[in-house]
Amino acid sequence: MNKDTLTITDNRTGRSYEISIQNDTIRALDLRQIKVNEDDFGMMSYDPAYTNTASCSSRITLVDGEKGILRYRGYPIEQLAEKSSFLEVAYLNIYGELPDSQQLSFWVERIMHHTFIHENLAKLMQSFRYDAHPMGMLIGTIAAMSTLHPDAKDIYDDQARQKQIWRLLGKLPTVAAFAYRRRIGRPYNYPDSSLGYTENLLYMMDYMNQGDYQVNPVLAKALDVLFILHAEHEQNCSTAVMRGIGSSHADPYSAMSGAAAALYGPLHGGANEAVLRMLNEIATVDNIPGYVEKVKAGKFRLMGFGHRVYKNYDPRARIIKKVADDVLAITGGNPLLDIALKLEEIALEDEYFVSRKLYPNVDFYSGIIYQAMGFPVDMFPVLFALGRAPGWLAQWLELIDDKEQRIARPRQVFLGSEQRDYLPMEQRG
Ligand code: CMC
Repeated sequence: MNKDTLTITDNRTGRSYEISIQNDTIRALDLRQIKVNEDDFGMMSYDPAYTNTASCSSRITLVDGEKGILRYRGYPIEQLAEKSSFLEVAYLNIYGELPDSQQLSFWVERIMHHTFIHENLAKLMQSFRYDAHPMGMLIGTIAAMSTLHPDAKDIYDDQARQKQIWRLLGKLPTVAAFAYRRRIGRPYNYPDSSLGYTENLLYMMDYMNQGDYQVNPVLAKALDVLFILHAEHEQNCSTAVMRGIGSSHADPYSAMSGAAAALYGPLHGGANEAVLRMLNEIATVDNIPGYVEKVKAGKFRLMGFGHRVYKNYDPRARIIKKVADDVLAITGGNPLLDIALKLEEIALEDEYFVSRKLYPNVDFYSGIIYQAMGFPVDMFPVLFALGRAPGWLAQWLELIDDKEQRIARPRQVFLGSEQRDYLPMEQRG
């Protein structure tokens, strides 16, 4: 007998329940019928950090962590990285299909048309302290954008939504470049919409009035590929925040500011920055074994290793190694690459990492490329945010249109005190 149901027997009461299975999941709410008595609240599932809970259904990205597979809308990441462009991939993720040539030119034109930011924002960015971390500036500035675009609150108006998507994708590189220029005390460069997306970013960051200035096309292409690799990754921490904030119907700027804040942490998008600091600390190949021993003793983690979903080689890390070769051929070798390669070799043979299925993730090599391209370490998570932005927007749109979604509101298992009476100060121990 084959039936798409699960039978649960509650040994407290001896009662059995038949719960339906759909897409290999059961609905957590179906557990609520399992009660010891009628007054009982009913059973819940307990899943700190959502390690085994699907909070939504999605049609955007497939990650098969056991096989090391990543597909956007069905297309393997390897093919997109080789053949597509970042803005085309952004379109694919947001609208579900690859654009035809007319759709693509319209999309690119709309985004590049929205690259200028309001002068108030430029002044706001100027007011950060000279050593402000650019990620803090990015988070604050995206949040401030919501004050300038009140039409963004109209989240059920299709045209208003489109406009915010163009604006966000268009303006983010400008905010990133301004954060960088502010940090190094140089005047802002205003966007040049005739350039490609990553080309314009590099131009805004680097240009200093040189007559013969030209963005290196290989570096612009490498950055474009890195952005493709970061463009979307289903329900990761920052995307879950984008959806969580979006579920309260906040505007997409507020939601994206929160998502960027989640990305900032060293366990997520801040890992590329942490990897670079780690490789600098290791300093020489000879120091690797001692460093790995400390990791195994639990003193700290090997940054850029391990992933909640990938229990195999992260397919993005494999593509990134090739990008690293292209970039280093132009910029010259990076001694940190030798340390990274040796570190990977040692870790992949070590029982500690093998038994825990810890492989290099996307951030292990991305930092080395960014550094070779001349980005300061604290810009690395900002670049990750720029790459991930279309993914956040695609997931936000999917959330808003999903009739099953309501405001995100997890339950808790309360383990605190029973009711007790207020104690006056003199009676407290
Ligand atoms: N170095 C050493 N040990 C590790 C590492 C690591 N990088 N990652 C996990 N472990 C160990 C961990 O100590 C635990 O061992 P034990 O079972 O003995 O307690 C086991 O592996 C499982 O770890 P976990 O913490 O339960 O795994 P998680 O799924 O909760 O964490 C992670 C995933 C990415 C946060 C974690 O692997 C980590 O901290 N990695 C380093 C930070 C990093 O590179 N983050 C970037 C992730 S990829 C980009 C992105 O999507 O943000």
